[in-house]
Amino acid sequence: DRVAVLHGVNLDQLGRRDPDHYGALTLDQLERKISGFAEELGLKVQFFQTNHEGEFVEYLHRASELADGLILNPGAWTHYSWAIRDALEITQLPSVEVHLSDVHAREEWRQLSVIRDLCVATVAGKGADGYRDALERVREALDPEPR
Ligand code: DQA
Repeated sequence: DRVAVLHGVNLDQLGRRDPDHYGALTLDQLERKISGFAEELGLKVQFFQTNHEGEFVEYLHRASELADGLILNPGAWTHYSWAIRDALEITQLPSVEVHLSDVHAREEWRQLSVIRDLCVATVAGKGADGYRDALERVREALDPEPR
């Protein structure tokens, strides 16, 4: 299965952002780590990052042709981009929301996620390892265990 991992606004600046919240890895290093997780789980990953909301939306418009499932860390857009929410809804893909930091324990304005109810799971506060959990959740959604 193919999983697209989407990073939104300011996530290209990892490595320069507060390491207490976001860790010390650069986006390149984080993506390499995610590739390793994906390999272990037998998933094919592709990555996308932009600081432009319209580009993020347009990627989502194409997403169902490119991937079977999605992992999204939209950065601050998470909290207010109804346009990204609407575009995610169009994809109809199993999606997992990820945040490096524990958004639930931070400022009030980070408590709202406009994409949460469209996602099969939310992973927050686990740093880079959270992406492993997210890949597992996408895989579960794509290949449910026979019972
Ligand atoms: C973030 C949390 C958001 O509140 C913040 O705006 C980010 C990163 C995270 O990964 O913890 O840019 O999505």
